[in-house]
Amino acid sequence: MEKKQIKIAVFVSGGGTNLQALIDAEKRGEIKSGKLSLVISNNPSADALTRASENGIKTLVISKKTEGSKEAMEEAMVRTLTENGIDLIVLAGFMCILSADFTRRYDKRILNIHPSLIPSFCGEGFYGLHVHEAALQKGVKVTGATVHYVNEVPDGGEIILQKAVNVEEGDTPEILQKRVMEQAEWIILPAAAELVSKKILEGKA
Ligand code: GAR
Repeated sequence: MEKKQIKIAVFVSGGGTNLQALIDAEKRGEIKSGKLSLVISNNPSADALTRASENGIKTLVISKKTEGSKEAMEEAMVRTLTENGIDLIVLAGFMCILSADFTRRYDKRILNIHPSLIPSFCGEGFYGLHVHEAALQKGVKVTGATVHYVNEVPDGGEIILQKAVNVEEGDTPEILQKRVMEQAEWIILPAAAELVSKKILEGKA
């Protein structure tokens, strides 16, 4: 029988509002080519884990700490992904840079959401609030978010979707972060997850 849905794993580290956006989009039927099947966190106290459990999604904590090293962490991740038959990985606020070995193994099978318009304010050291601090420091008038494939270059993989968001007078990094999430991240991440899931399902990626 032909597969009707691919299986998606979401990697998280913190609040999990992007995970929530994926869950909500799946409930609304906007993600239909993929099923959110597993959430892996490298942080045992991530609120994202609660969001996943409350929605009946299997959760696991796999970290350098639990496994002893980054290599062992990635080995445990590969084992788990294989055992669970995962087809696509979505990094949704996952604050750990994956090795080239890992990203090559899952070529065009890992998506990441980044809170800026790549190639601005991206790469190593640009994560979470730091991205918005840098954007405000530079004085840009427009920022946004990007979903891209993950390769061995941090934030360097092919761009899938982007959405622009205005910077307003008096913005703090926190205010700007919230606007970028609401107006860009929570929209383009589910859209990209469906887009890529559909391609994989149809054998076009
Ligand atoms: C989001 O803004 C996401 O784009 C960013 O971290 C936040 C996680 O929030 N990711 C990065 O900076 C990756 N370089 P969330 O846990 O509420 O989704």
